[in-house]
Amino acid sequence: MYLTRHRCADFRNISRLEFEPARSVNVICGENGQGKTNLLESIFLLTGARSFRMAKDISLIKRDCDACKISSEFFSEGRAQSLEITITEKGRSASLNKGTPTKASAAAGKVRCVVFSPEHLELVKGSPERRRRFIDTALCQISSAYLANLRVYTRLLGQRNSLLKDAQYVSAAAEMLDVYDERFTEAASVITEARRAFISELRPIALSSYAAVSSERERMEFHYESTMFADGECDAGDALIKLRESRALEQRAGYSMSGPHRDDIALSLDGADARVFASQGQQRCIVLALKLAEAELMERRTDEKPILLLDDVLSELDEARRDCLVGSLDDTQAFITCCDPETVLERYHSDARVFKMRDGELKGG
Ligand SMILES: Nc1ncnc2c1ncn2[C@@H]1O[C@H](COP(=O)(O)OP(=O)(O)OP(=O)(O)O)[C@@H](O)[C@H]1O
Ligand SMILES: [Mg+2]
Repeated sequence: MYLTRHRCADFRNISRLEFEPARSVNVICGENGQGKTNLLESIFLLTGARSFRMAKDISLIKRDCDACKISSEFFSEGRAQSLEITITEKGRSASLNKGTPTKASAAAGKVRCVVFSPEHLELVKGSPERRRRFIDTALCQISSAYLANLRVYTRLLGQRNSLLKDAQYVSAAAEMLDVYDERFTEAASVITEARRAFISELRPIALSSYAAVSSERERMEFHYESTMFADGECDAGDALIKLRESRALEQRAGYSMSGPHRDDIALSLDGADARVFASQGQQRCIVLALKLAEAELMERRTDEKPILLLDDVLSELDEARRDCLVGSLDDTQAFITCCDPETVLERYHSDARVFKMRDGELKGG
């Protein structure tokens, strides 16, 4: 899939911007703080996900404005389509193919992107939340059922946590918890199963990507680490029994101590925990392998290549890994930000369209 026109208004430092990207590679260059990442962020928001910078929606709206709008025309499923997203302090809404605006989640996954930014280098050594986000961001784009289930789970989790806090003082809350526990473990089972299926499909692709980007120096391994279910099982009934046993403990803690919101991806290199031991170069290889695998898996599941957003990462990679990444761009629409376009153009894409970002305004093409 690819974008044919992209517009945004009152988005971060961008007042108004409109451009027609190339079908292949688009290089966005400019000095620091001019709005290059902002532009990539605006494209990424079309996927329906939260910002890849972990920013709250409200910080996306240009200072002193009430709302921002992102609207794009794109080609997917064999036809021209359009999507408009509006963000106000009350929330998001979306209009697909000029239809009546709906909840933004209804249009999630129509535009699909894989993003790779310096923040993603935290994927290996950062908190488990980053690794869970990696799975959720991909799955929410390829499965609307997963997105719906995740929303149910998140709502149940919030309600269950409040009940756990209240249950010490209010006996009605303890009774309510009995009902919630059942729904909570069922929702947890559905999410865990989908995440495990995703990871096991991703695994062979990522392992061979890792071998390629690391010149087979060491062997990468990873698996999904559930806090609620034993390996290979996803039985909500068993989980419910365990949850009831740990009720007193959870009440004292005041929050749910197990479930998909506490899970992780266990990553290792030659058997050593990569979350603790991976060097900087190894971390880069792991993230690159996971991102390339994410793009390939998305293509398999949807029959279309996702749009690739590369924020300042080419400068972070050495020559061989850069070649691996750029080699995967065939027939993919990519948006690459950098300070100096020559580094990208010289060796890789002479047919790229080059834009210059300055103070929130885009020139060139
Ligand atoms: N809500 C907002 N309203 C107005 N300006 C904002 C808002 N959020 C961020 N900015 C401005 O956007 C600019 C940063 O843009 P961005 O992060 O895209 O820079 P960049 O071109 O990617 O720079 P670098 O090369 O350093 O990564 C900063 O000047 C910041 O003050
Ligand atoms: Mg930037």
